[in-house]
Amino acid sequence: MQQLDQQYWETRYQNGLTGWDAGAITTPLREYFDQLTDKSVSVLIPGAGNAHEAAYLFELGFSDVHVLDISESALRQFQLRNPLFPKSHIHQGDFWAHEGKYDLIIEQTFFCAIDPVLRTAYVKKTSDILRSGGKLVGVLWNHPMGENEPPFGGSEAEYIELFSECLEINVLETAYNSIQPRAGREVFIKMTKK
Ligand SMILES: C[S@@+](CC[C@H](N)C(=O)[O-])C[C@H]1O[C@@H](n2cnc3c(N)ncnc32)[C@H](O)[C@@H]1O
Repeated sequence: MQQLDQQYWETRYQNGLTGWDAGAITTPLREYFDQLTDKSVSVLIPGAGNAHEAAYLFELGFSDVHVLDISESALRQFQLRNPLFPKSHIHQGDFWAHEGKYDLIIEQTFFCAIDPVLRTAYVKKTSDILRSGGKLVGVLWNHPMGENEPPFGGSEAEYIELFSECLEINVLETAYNSIQPRAGREVFIKMTKK
C-alpha cells in the first residue's frame, strides 16, 4: 500500500480528488450539533479537510472549535472561506503528534482514511486527547470498502471490540439520517472516555 502521508493528501487536494467531501455538513452531525446546548465545549475535528462541521459549529456560536489536518491546502481553503474563524484554532499537523485536551472529538471520514493497522492507535490517541468524560461522536462506515487505498471500511462487530478498550460505547447503530449516498452504509457513534 502506498504511504498515506502528507504528500499523498496534499496531492489529492491539489488535484481536486476529494470524493469524500460531501460539500456540506452531513445530516447525522448537523442534527447532533443542533441539539447541543453548551456552546463552550472544546471540540476537535481531526482530519477535518474542508471542515464543514467546524464552519457550522462556529456559525451556531460554538466558541472553542478546533480543526486539525495534515494538508496545508485544505486548511488554507478553509481559512479563506471562513475568515472569522480563529486562526489559532486551525492546526496544521499530524494527528499522531497533536497535543491538547477536548470535550468532544468529531469523526467524519478521518478514521476510514488512516491505514487500518493504525486503528488501535487511533482509539488510544483519541482517548488520550479527550478530557475525562469527553466524547467521540460521528460516523463510521459499516461496509467493506477499499483494501489498498482509503476509504477503508469496517463492521459494527469490529468497532465494538476496537473502541471498547478505551471508550464506553453509548451509541453505535446504523445512522437513520445519513445523506442519501451513504444511507445504510454508516453507523452513528457516540462514545465516552472511560
Ligand atoms: C478522507 S479525508 C476527510 C476529510 C473531511 N473530514 C471530510 O469529510 O471531508 C481525510 C482527511 O484526513 C487528513 N489526514 C490524513 N492523515 C492525517 C494525519 N495523520 N493527521 C492529520 N490529518 C490527516 C487528510 O489530509 C484529509 O483531509
